[in-house]
Amino acid sequence: MPAPSELPDSLAPLARRNAIELSHTRFGYDVDQIVAVIRANLSARPVKPTADAPAIKRKIDAINGLRAALINATDSPLYAYRVANKLMPVLGNGDPDAGIIFIGESPGKTEAAEGRPFVGASGKVLDELLDGIRLKRADVFITNLVLDHPGSREPLPEEIAFYAPYVDRLIEVIAPKVIVPLGRFAAHYLLKKHDLPEKGRAISALHGTMLPATLAYGDIHIVPMLHPAVVLYQSSQRETLKRGFETLRTFV
Ligand code: URA
Repeated sequence: MPAPSELPDSLAPLARRNAIELSHTRFGYDVDQIVAVIRANLSARPVKPTADAPAIKRKIDAINGLRAALINATDSPLYAYRVANKLMPVLGNGDPDAGIIFIGESPGKTEAAEGRPFVGASGKVLDELLDGIRLKRADVFITNLVLDHPGSREPLPEEIAFYAPYVDRLIEVIAPKVIVPLGRFAAHYLLKKHDLPEKGRAISALHGTMLPATLAYGDIHIVPMLHPAVVLYQSSQRETLKRGFETLRTFV
């Protein structure tokens, strides 16, 4: 800690204000104190100011409009499959004014049977990851890049092209400060769309990194993450995912 005499007059009174000393003998303890103070202050910072009631009503109406359009999207490449298998489209759910939006790949069979995102096995992993950073589903918005179940396969480029405008519109309406693409499909779509320099990089290299971007409504961060389903195939990835989610603490 500098002595007040070593500082310019304007800074001298701040020399010991809120200071936490780092000592050799109790280094671990002292650092924990600093981390706790920083964390408490970051947590106190709202990710974005809450919209007023009429603005929230407009957001809810716009999301309901999108939901209705999606239900009637007979021109979707997955519409026939949806009807033949008695499935539902999954627009997503959560806070219409969320500061953080999560975008997965596509709904699984369980999700399409219920019409809700991430309610199957990967949903349990996602819940655990959210819980780890004290977030509830109701605090965020959760959707997917492809909004109908494509069967047990990866989404095709034409399916992504069909549903992406719905996802773009959801982002525009909710206007989150943070977009978290879960997995390579959503990450590559967003990075390419916003022409970020990292757009060619593998999801494993992008995991947990904060990428600044500017959307029509303002400056945001895109924070790509591995898809929670990786834990189902490789349990050692649970810790990697947890570490990636820690990045989001800055925003909650
Ligand atoms: N995987 C996804 O990408 N989305 C879901 O909703 C469920 C599983």
